[in-house]
Amino acid sequence: MRSRVSNMVPRRKFIGCWFSAKKKKKVNLEKLRAIVESHGAILKEIDFSKTMKAQEPFDAIIHKMTDRMIEAMSGNKRAEKNIKDVENYLENHPNTVVVDPLPSIRKLLDRHETYKLIKGTKLCLNGTLHIPTFAYITSRNEADILEQMRANSVEFPFVCKKSVAHGSASHKMSIIFNKEGLKDVDPPCVAQTFINHGALLYKIYVIADKYHVVQRPSLRDFSKDSLKDHKTIFFNSHDISSGDSSRSKLTTPDEEDVQIAPPLETSAIDAMTKELHNELHMTMYGVDIIASIETGKQYIIDVNVFPGYDGVPDFLDTLMNHVMKKLEPQTNGISARKQNGSAKTALIKPLMKTRSNNNDTNCHEEPPLKKSSRNGVISAKNKQAR
Ligand SMILES: Nc1ncnc2c1ncn2[C@@H]1O[C@H](COP(=O)(O)OP(=O)(O)OP(=O)(O)O)[C@@H](O)[C@H]1O
Ligand SMILES: [Mg+2]
Repeated sequence: MRSRVSNMVPRRKFIGCWFSAKKKKKVNLEKLRAIVESHGAILKEIDFSKTMKAQEPFDAIIHKMTDRMIEAMSGNKRAEKNIKDVENYLENHPNTVVVDPLPSIRKLLDRHETYKLIKGTKLCLNGTLHIPTFAYITSRNEADILEQMRANSVEFPFVCKKSVAHGSASHKMSIIFNKEGLKDVDPPCVAQTFINHGALLYKIYVIADKYHVVQRPSLRDFSKDSLKDHKTIFFNSHDISSGDSSRSKLTTPDEEDVQIAPPLETSAIDAMTKELHNELHMTMYGVDIIASIETGKQYIIDVNVFPGYDGVPDFLDTLMNHVMKKLEPQTNGISARKQNGSAKTALIKPLMKTRSNNNDTNCHEEPPLKKSSRNGVISAKNKQAR
C-alpha cells in the first residue's frame, strides 16, 4: 500500500521569470537563482518561443515585460502573441503570484496616463504630494500647443517628455523655455512645468511594503531672467540621474545660484507607498520626487516599473521574501488573484520601522531626509558628489 503521507509532501515551488537581455544582467539572474534556491524553490526562465502551458507549472512569476508589452501595443505580432499567452495563463491560474500584474504595469507605460493617475490620487488631491502641471501635446502647431498649455496651466519652462515611458526613445527629452522653442516639441508628448528643485532628485525604490530613498543628481535650476531667450536644451534622461551619471554642466548649478534642495518629507512617502499599493497593486516600482526650492512642495515627476535599484542592498532578497510570503497562504486556500491585487481589499502590511542610512552618504552635511521619519527602510546612498 502506498504511503498517504508521501502524497502530502508539497512539491517545490516554481518561480518563473522573464527579463530582457539587458535587464537580466542588471538584475543578476544567477544571484536571483541562488536566492530562489535558498528558499527551496526553482527559478525557471520563461521562454517566449514556447507557450506558457508548455512550460508550466508556475507558482509565481517575476518579470519586467514592459518593452515586450510596448512592442505588442505597437503591432508586433509575436510580442502580441507572447503577452496574450501570459495574460491567458494568469487568467486561468489565479493562484500564480505575479510581480507585477500586467494591467497595473500597462497603466505606467504611457506618461500621460501615469500623470493623470497620480493627479487623481487622494495624495495629490489632499496636497500631501504634488505633480507638476502637465499637458498632453499631439500637435506641432504653435497655437494648439499654447492652448493646451493654457488649458492645463503649464508654464515656461517645461520639460518635454515622449508619452511612451519605456525604450530608448523615451529618454530623449528637452527643456523648452519660450514660444520660439515650441518648434522643438515632438508629439505625442507631455509638456510638464519645470520645477526649480536644487538639482537634487530623490529616487524612491519600493519593494512591496518597504522602500529605499537614494539621492541623485538632477537638472539644475534656471533663474527667471535666463528664461526669455534661452534656446531649447535637449538631453537624455539617462545622462542626468541614472546610477552611473556624475554631475555635468546640466546638473551643476552656477556658483552664484546654488540652492539647497528642501528635505524629503518621509511621512508623505509612507502615505504614497500605501496609496500607490492600493491604486496600482504594484510590488516593484520606483518613484522620482523633487522638492521645490520656492515652496518646499514635493512633486512626483516619474513612476518606473521594476527600476534599477542601484544603491539598494539586498533588493532581490527582499523581493523573494515577499514572493515566498505571498505563496504561503495558498496552502490555506487564499487565492493569489486576491493577493495580486485584483481584489479591492489588498492588505497593506505595516512598513518596517527601522532606518538604515548608508555610511557612504557624502554630499550634504545633513542629508536632506527629514529626521522625523518613522517608517520605511531608508538607505540614503548619495551619489550626487557635488
Ligand atoms: N518637471 C520637472 N521639473 C524639473 N526637472 C525635471 C522635471 N521632470 C524631469 N526632470 C528632470 O529630468 C530627469 C528625467 O526625467 P524623468 O524621470 O521623467 O525621465 P525618465 O527617462 O523617465 O527617467 P528614468 O531614468 O527614471 O526612467 C529627472 O531626473 C529630473 O532631473
Ligand atoms: Mg526618472
